[in-house]
Amino acid sequence: MSRIDRLIAAMTLPEKLGQMTMVSAGYAVTGPVVAGDARDAIKAGTIGNLLNLYGPDRVREMQELAVNSRLGIPLLIGLDVIHGHRTLFPIPLAEAGLFDAEAWEESARAAACEAAADGLALTFAPMLDVSRDPRWGRSAEGPGEDPWLAARIAVAKVRGLQGKRLDDGSAIAGCAKHYCAYGPVTAGREYASVDVSERTVHEIHLPSFAAAIAAGVSCVMPAFTDLAGIPMTAHVPLLRDWLRGHLGFDGVIISDYNAIAELIRHGVAADLTHAATLALKAGVDIDMMANAYRDGLPQALARGWVTGEDIDAAVRRVLTLKEQLGLFNDPYRRGASAEPEAQRIARRALARSIAGRSMLLLKNESSALPLTPGVRRLALVGPLADAPGEMRGPWWAAGEERDPVSVLAGLKAALPNTEVAYSRGTDIESDDESGIDEAVLLADQAQVVVLCLGERATMSGEAASRAHLGLPGRQRKLAEAVIQRARVRGQRTVAILFSGRPIVAPWLFESTDAVLAAWFPGSEAGHAIADVLTGRVSPSARSPISWPRAEGQIPIYYAERPGGRPENPADHFTSKYLDEPNSPQFPFGYGLSYGRFVYSSVAATPERVRESGDVEVRVEVRNEGPREAEETVFLFAHDRLASVARPTLELKGFGKIRLRPGEQGTVRIEVPAREFRFLGADLKSVFEPGEVELLVGPYADRSRLLIASIMLVS
Ligand code: NOJ
Repeated sequence: MSRIDRLIAAMTLPEKLGQMTMVSAGYAVTGPVVAGDARDAIKAGTIGNLLNLYGPDRVREMQELAVNSRLGIPLLIGLDVIHGHRTLFPIPLAEAGLFDAEAWEESARAAACEAAADGLALTFAPMLDVSRDPRWGRSAEGPGEDPWLAARIAVAKVRGLQGKRLDDGSAIAGCAKHYCAYGPVTAGREYASVDVSERTVHEIHLPSFAAAIAAGVSCVMPAFTDLAGIPMTAHVPLLRDWLRGHLGFDGVIISDYNAIAELIRHGVAADLTHAATLALKAGVDIDMMANAYRDGLPQALARGWVTGEDIDAAVRRVLTLKEQLGLFNDPYRRGASAEPEAQRIARRALARSIAGRSMLLLKNESSALPLTPGVRRLALVGPLADAPGEMRGPWWAAGEERDPVSVLAGLKAALPNTEVAYSRGTDIESDDESGIDEAVLLADQAQVVVLCLGERATMSGEAASRAHLGLPGRQRKLAEAVIQRARVRGQRTVAILFSGRPIVAPWLFESTDAVLAAWFPGSEAGHAIADVLTGRVSPSARSPISWPRAEGQIPIYYAERPGGRPENPADHFTSKYLDEPNSPQFPFGYGLSYGRFVYSSVAATPERVRESGDVEVRVEVRNEGPREAEETVFLFAHDRLASVARPTLELKGFGKIRLRPGEQGTVRIEVPAREFRFLGADLKSVFEPGEVELLVGPYADRSRLLIASIMLVS
């Protein structure tokens, strides 16, 4: 008999339900604490999993209680390590813009090592929800708008978090979330209902999860939301039939926080017993914070609504994960020894380099950036210039408020011979305008003015939808006052935007010389920004999400289908707004560097390809700019004539090239022909012979792409 069989045979019902329950530690000034009653339950073996607890000593103390319980089953302890643990990397949306699978994996590996050294064995990441609605604050946590990109990120993140072997002391279990289609919440409003077509679910929202599962992710978390009336926590067709059945996932499904109890609020469960039954029947193994399994399942069992086998199957999956993590053999392995100092230093260096590479240069008129060497006086203005805590962005795990490097500190360190004068000007959000005059005066004395504007860290993430996506508070007033004055005096202005989403600010993009979207860069924010501003790093990120000109364009994404009346300015009865262009402010893939790249001679081979074959697309790229830089080259496809209308552009690949000024090189992108499959009218995958356009270039704007064609043959 295996260890798990023996344990299950020996367990009482309350012990089994304990393995199916996860409770949260509270937070005290001194750090996370587990309440007295939860400690008693751990001792009794009736709580088997914790969240929000970290720190080797605290973890050891709790594990000791569990290990000394009747059956000695160790705890599974998790935390939201979304973009770093103590050392914070840029928020996931920012990191998506690197278009670099190695870097995505590397930062996840570094975060996992740090989290594991703090006693953790599980994280609720990666977050894989495609978002085409920047009102939704959780766009910040995810991969952006594209399903192909989301799937690549999924694989890299799972590999990074889980390492080569789950039982390695530096590996932590990942949890792909939030399954699925959480992104299209009604009107971008957090937790609201979702109603999208089955095609959209399968084409847009499921591929990232399928990729995570193929990469071996340990856990999956259903979304809080309902999909066309069925809450995801109780979604039998998508959880039991698709995830477990079709994709063959037999890892652990963990509910979201209190989500099982919320089935009552959704209006599909009468009480906790009913709610627990629905969740268990759908395949949810662990109840996070609803206490529905412990309270409801005994009665559900007595009534015959669930069976002992249902419960045992869930317990088995939880115990199997604990075994895979090596927790039975050594529950204290994670956090047993402090990390070597060199590892910590290397991680900070990695955070700095990834943060620098995640900065999105949106505008750079008359080469305002990089700053010319020898600037004597620089004015740093705005509420985010000296705001280390905000640099963390949402979900900062164990990252401390004072730890990140502010822009002020970063610039001072990088420019020892420049006088860096600072004025806050206004708050992020309040109506206080009293500091604006002082900021304008201070800016008067400088050669360059750098404005640090944007959102508070917690204006994105969970429960952080916004209806207005402009700069909050009086920041526009501050910026306009400073920019206007600077223009009169012939000074350069650079705006750095901090946000968890695209900001709608056409006036800003028009009026400043340069705009750098820094998102939330994490622990090394100030240094990374200084690296880009001084030219030590040439920006290379590309936007993983479309930037709207106006909130009324949302949802906005590049991969639209053409419709029967695509936009035609000459024809009134075509698809357009009366008061805004259709095009975004900045399209998917947009992002400048300190180079200037020109594309030529695109070719695709072979011209005819079967489903089992591969296509290679080549394009010549030349750097005609004054500095060495890296270019990301995108490959989109368009199936012009198919049995189902297809998007006018669909991402199928990307390549990268680094070129010195005047240098030219060839970028090759390979695509397996099976990537041109799509879901037919019956939602079954088909490979349809015929012509496919391949479009190559710098971002998702047809007018900027070079076109080659191939023929798919059966
Ligand atoms: C609620 C969030 O939706 C989820 O993403 C997170 O993992 C849990 N809370 C635990 O903190």
